[in-house]
Parts: sequence; structure tokens; C-alpha cells
Amino acid sequence: MNVNGKPYRTIWLKQSDERQVQIIDQRNLPHEFNIETIGNVASMARAIQEMHVRGAGLIGAAAGYGMYLAALEASESDDFDQSLESSYQALKETRPTAVNLAWALDRQMAAMARETSPVDKIAIAISTAHEIADEDASFCASIGRHGLELIREISNRKGNAESVNILTHCNAGWLAFVDHGSATAPIYAAHDAGLPVHVYVDETRPRNQGARLTAWELGQHGVPYTLIADNVGGHLMQHGKVDLVLTGTDRTAVSGDVANKIGTYLKALAAKDNGVPFYVALPSSTFDWNIRDGVAEIPIEQRDDEEVTFAQGLCDGALKRVRLSPESSPAANYAFDVTPARLVTGLITERGICEANEASILGLFPEKRV
Ligand code: MRU
Repeated sequence: MNVNGKPYRTIWLKQSDERQVQIIDQRNLPHEFNIETIGNVASMARAIQEMHVRGAGLIGAAAGYGMYLAALEASESDDFDQSLESSYQALKETRPTAVNLAWALDRQMAAMARETSPVDKIAIAISTAHEIADEDASFCASIGRHGLELIREISNRKGNAESVNILTHCNAGWLAFVDHGSATAPIYAAHDAGLPVHVYVDETRPRNQGARLTAWELGQHGVPYTLIADNVGGHLMQHGKVDLVLTGTDRTAVSGDVANKIGTYLKALAAKDNGVPFYVALPSSTFDWNIRDGVAEIPIEQRDDEEVTFAQGLCDGALKRVRLSPESSPAANYAFDVTPARLVTGLITERGICEANEASILGLFPEKRV
């Protein structure tokens, strides 16, 4: 997608030195646009854990490139396999909820296991990293094409003059993937097709990915949006101001239970109560084919309390971090919640739209039947 008219992906190999990876460092967006160069596994693990990169698809792509760096490091060590294994573990421990992380790491390990020499393992690691990234981008583009039809249907029903009002939570935009985004892909596709769309963007406390990232992305693409506080959605739905809730997901069980940024569950409840369709967009890399009870089985990341007790923003031209709560205030920081499948109207995948249940999901992905 474009930043000030220039096309970017969120992660790529440095052109002048293919032993280094470059990312958009998302921590200070939208106030600062910084490119970070990453040359070793420890830095990649830190970038994932401290959320220089974030979002399910991008975490997977970063893990893919991280394993390429791991192969380079292993080739300079005394024991290739042991070095690779410890890099794999270090990357795996960075963030627990988004399943794309383990999926990409395992795909890399399986690819490297098929080769024997370190040189061949490095070669397969880089081509697999590119494959993961390219696939992520093309799957998101397909999600956009399928989701566009859903938006078109609503627009037709509204007579094509009035905007289709879409509420989204957190950032499942191109910044959370390699390109296009999951929840935003249909929105960009609809906007590009000339359909009138307007997005209500939940600010998404505590890290404000909606206010900082989704608002910035939509603005860069010229999509009309309104930033709202996290608790506004229910009120808007009661007053008929939301036609569709569209979110991403960090892990979706094969039963259709959806883990997404904390607060998503409350939006799904409000949508159900008000008869507003609640759709979740995801590439197949975000399905957990082994989990059925999302609430019981999906690990929920808990992050530093200071993300709740402090907030970051621009003040007199400089980025500042300010305390919000009393100094001694205890806090808890649950980063994700699980929306049960019964509240999800449908899933938008790269292969089409299905219902949030095992039969319908496996109907689109029959090769995953056991
Ligand atoms: O904690 P983050 O920023 O990595 O969380 C991920 C998210 O932005 C959302 O939960 C998103 O809707 C799903 S990721 C495509």
C-alpha cells in the first residue's frame, strides 16, 4: 500500500545487503515513519515481542525472515541444527496468541529439514521466507475480492447512494500483514471500486492500534473514517449507524471461535443484539486446525501493565509518554479475547466466505480434514 504516494510492504530484504531484513517500525506511527534494519535473530525476536512489527500475518512473515537469519547464524556456528533449534525457540516464545508465528516457524523448519547442506538450507530458508510473505499479500488481496461482494450487496440494498458504514476494531490493516490487510482489504477494494464506504475505527486501548494505525492507513488511502472511543460501537449499532462489523483475527479455531484484540467480543455481542452482521477476515494461515474450544484453548497474551497505566502521543511536536492512573494503581493487560463462533456471521478467507463452523470451514479447506 502507499505511504505518501510511495508503495511499501511492511517487511522486505535490504536491497544492498541480502543478509539483512527491513521493516516499518510501527511503534511511533503515525507520528514518525521509521524503517528499521534487522541483521540477527535476537533483534528479530525483540522486534516481534516489543511490537515494532505486529499483527498476525506480519508476525508470521517476520518469523519466516527470522528463520532465514537463523540459518545464516547457524552456518557460522559449530552445530547448525542446535543453533537453528535455539533460534526457533527464541522466536516462538515472543508472542503466544497469533498462530501465524508457529505456523511460519514450523514451515521453515520443515523446508530446511528437506535439505542437507547449510548452503542449501540457507537457500531454501530465503525462498520460503519470500513465499510466506508473497502468499500473505496475495491471500489478503483475495480476501479483498471476496469481501468486496459482501459490501457491494449492502451498498445495493442501501440504494448505492448512502455510505456503507463499517465498524472495525484494532488494526487488521496492511500494517498487520505484508500488504492489503485482512479486514481492510474488502474496504480498500470497495473504495477503489467506487462504492461509498465509511469506517468507524475503534481506538483500541491500551495500545491504540485503531487510533494510531488504522486511522493512518485509511487516511493514506483516502477512505473516509471516524475515530471513536472503544465503547461507542454499541450505541452506534442501536441507532442503525453500523451496517457491518468487520474485524481481523489472530487465531481462529476450526470450530469458528475467533481470538482477536481485546474488546472484540463485546462488539460481537452488541452486533448480535442489534442484528448487525459480524464478519471476520483471515488468511488460512490464521486457522488453528487443532483447536475446537477457542475460549478454553487459545492462549491469551498478557502484556506489561504499563501499556494500561501510560499512554503515548504527540505533545508540542515531540513523542511523549504520560501516566494515566494513580502511581500505585494495579492494572491488568489482557491483549486478546475470544468471540464464540455463535456470534460470528461469517469468515472471509482467500478461498471465499464461509460460516463460522467446522463443516463450513472444512468445506473451503477440505485438505485439512483428518
Ligand atoms: O497485538 P497486535 O497489534 O499484534 O494485535 C493484532 C491485531 O492487530 C488485531 O488483533 C487484529 O485484528 C488481528 S491481526 C490481523
